[in-house]
Amino acid sequence: MTEQKSWIKDLVVYQIYPRSFYDSNGDGIGDLPGILQKLDYLEELGINALWLSPVYRSPNDDNGYDISGYQEIMEEFGTMEDWDRLRDACRQKGIRVIMDLVVNHSSDEHPWFIESRSSRENPKSDYYIWRDPVDGHEPNNWASAFGGSAWEYVPERGQYYFHYFSKKQPDLNWACQELRDEVIGMMNWWVDKGVEGFRVDAISYLDKPLDFPDSTLPPRPDGYSFPDCLICRPGTHAYIREMNRRVFAPRNILTVGEVAAPTVEELGNYVKTDREEFDMVIPFVLPKTEIDTWSPKRLKKDIEETYQAMKEDGWWARFFSNHDKPRQVSLYGDDGEYWEVSAKFLAMFLHSLPGTPYVYQGEEIGMTNVKLPSIEDYDDPSTRDQYQQYLLSGMTPEAALAQAQLESRDNARTPMQWDNSETGGFTSGTPWLKTNPNTREINVETQRRDSHSVYQCYRKLIALRKESPALSRGDLVFLETGQEDLFALTRSTAEETLLAFHNFSRQEHEIPAALLDGAGEVLLSSYDREGGYRGPVLRPYESVIFRK
Ligand code: GLC
Ligand code: CA
Repeated sequence: MTEQKSWIKDLVVYQIYPRSFYDSNGDGIGDLPGILQKLDYLEELGINALWLSPVYRSPNDDNGYDISGYQEIMEEFGTMEDWDRLRDACRQKGIRVIMDLVVNHSSDEHPWFIESRSSRENPKSDYYIWRDPVDGHEPNNWASAFGGSAWEYVPERGQYYFHYFSKKQPDLNWACQELRDEVIGMMNWWVDKGVEGFRVDAISYLDKPLDFPDSTLPPRPDGYSFPDCLICRPGTHAYIREMNRRVFAPRNILTVGEVAAPTVEELGNYVKTDREEFDMVIPFVLPKTEIDTWSPKRLKKDIEETYQAMKEDGWWARFFSNHDKPRQVSLYGDDGEYWEVSAKFLAMFLHSLPGTPYVYQGEEIGMTNVKLPSIEDYDDPSTRDQYQQYLLSGMTPEAALAQAQLESRDNARTPMQWDNSETGGFTSGTPWLKTNPNTREINVETQRRDSHSVYQCYRKLIALRKESPALSRGDLVFLETGQEDLFALTRSTAEETLLAFHNFSRQEHEIPAALLDGAGEVLLSSYDREGGYRGPVLRPYESVIFRK
C-alpha cells in the first residue's frame, strides 16, 4: 500500500449479500431499492464502505457469481438507475461502494461464451479454456470445486472447456489479450461510474498452464483430483499487476483480492507495496476445512504469523464471516447458552486487531446457523453436491443432512432478520430461502432498542475505532498469559495504548496480575449487560478493552 492510500486504514466494510438483505417489492428476493431503504440503518451502525456481493446480470447458478452481463444489473435486483441512486445516496453519507468482481470465470450464458462455444473459428474462440479430448475423454482428471469433473464437453467444437467452479461458470482465458482488454475496459467503466473499490473474486487461479494434456495427472476420470497446481502461479500475479497498472493505480480505489494461498509468504505476495497488486487479501479456506480444524490456538497463530509477515509492508482484511462461511457465533462462539456474550466477544476480539474490519450482514445482531428441515430447502449448489457425496459414501439421509447443514453456505445466506415476524421483516412475500425461525428472538428491531445488545456492541466498537489511533493504526503485541484460551494483547501508537483480554472459552480464566498493571479505564466489556468487567477472573467469552 502506498502512503497516499492510507485512507483504507480507516474503513469499516459492511458486506451485503443482496439477495438476502431486504426485499422492497414482495417478490421474496432482496434488491437494490431494498438496500437503499436500509441505508440509514448502515449509517447508524457507523460503517463507511459497502461491499456488494455481485449484482450484475446473472442466471443465478451461483447467486450472481456467474455473470452473464458485466455492465448490466440483475433484473431481480432492479435497474442501473437503482444502482445510480444507491451510489449517490452512499456518497452523501460518506459510504464507499465496493463491487464484487468475478473475472476468473463468467456465466455460460454470457454472450462471450455463447459465441466461443459455437465453433473453433469464431472471434471469441479463445476467450475460454478449450482443450481436445484425450482418448475420447476429459483432458485430465481435474475436479471442479463444486463436485465432479472440471471439464465439460461441447459437441459444436468437439472440445472440452474448463470450469473451476460449476459447469455454468466457464473459466475465462486470461492468456488472451483481447479478453484482458475487455475485462479491463469493463472495470474502468465501473470506476468511471463511481465505484470506489473492487473485491476481486477467486483471483488466485487466473493463469492456467497451457500443457494440460501433458500433465502428469492421469487423463481418465477414475476419481477426480483437485488441481492444486493452478493456485498462485507466477502468471496470475502478472495478470493482477496488469489490472493494477491499467485500473487500480491511476484511480486510487480500494482493491481486495480473494485468494487461496498455501503459505503466509504467498499471501504477502499479493499485498506488498513493490508487488503492485492488491491493498489487502481475503484468504480463502474451504468452510469444511475451517470447521474441522479451527481452534483458538490456531486462530491466534494465524493472526500472529500474518501480522509479522506484513507489519512492515502490507495490510489485513479482518473478518470471521462472509457469504461462504458458517455464521461466526455458531462456528467460533456458542449459539446456545452464551450466544450474546460470545457474539460480543467475537466482535471485540476481531475489532481489537490491526487491519480493516469487515462486518457481514447479520453478524452485527449475532445471527446464527440454521437447520433447514430438508435438503430440498437448500439452494447452495455445493451443499446439494456434498449431500449426494455423503449419501454415496454410505451415510444415512439423516446423517448426510446433518453434516450438510453444518457446512452449508446457506447458513450465511438466510434472510436478514429485521424484526420478529415470520419472514423476519425481510419480505412481504415468500423469501427465496427460508428465514431462520430464531428471528423471533434475534432481530434488528429488538436490538436497536436495547442498549446492551450485540448490535450496540458493534456500534460502540466502530465508533471507538474512529476516535482511537491505536485501534486503527497501532502495533499489535500478544502478551503471554500462560493459558491457551486466554488472549492478552496491546495496540499502541506513540499517543495511545489499548490493552485487551479475550477469554476464548466456556471456562473461567484468570488474568495474571502482572498483565493488569496500569490497565486503566475500561472502554468496553462483553458483559456490559451483567454490569461489565468485575475483576481478573474472566467469565466464559468475556472480553474487556482498557485504555492505559
Ligand atoms: C468465491 C465466492 C463464492 C463463489 C466462488 C465462485 O469463492 O466467494 O461465493 O461461489 O468464488 O465464484
Ligand atoms: Ca425484490
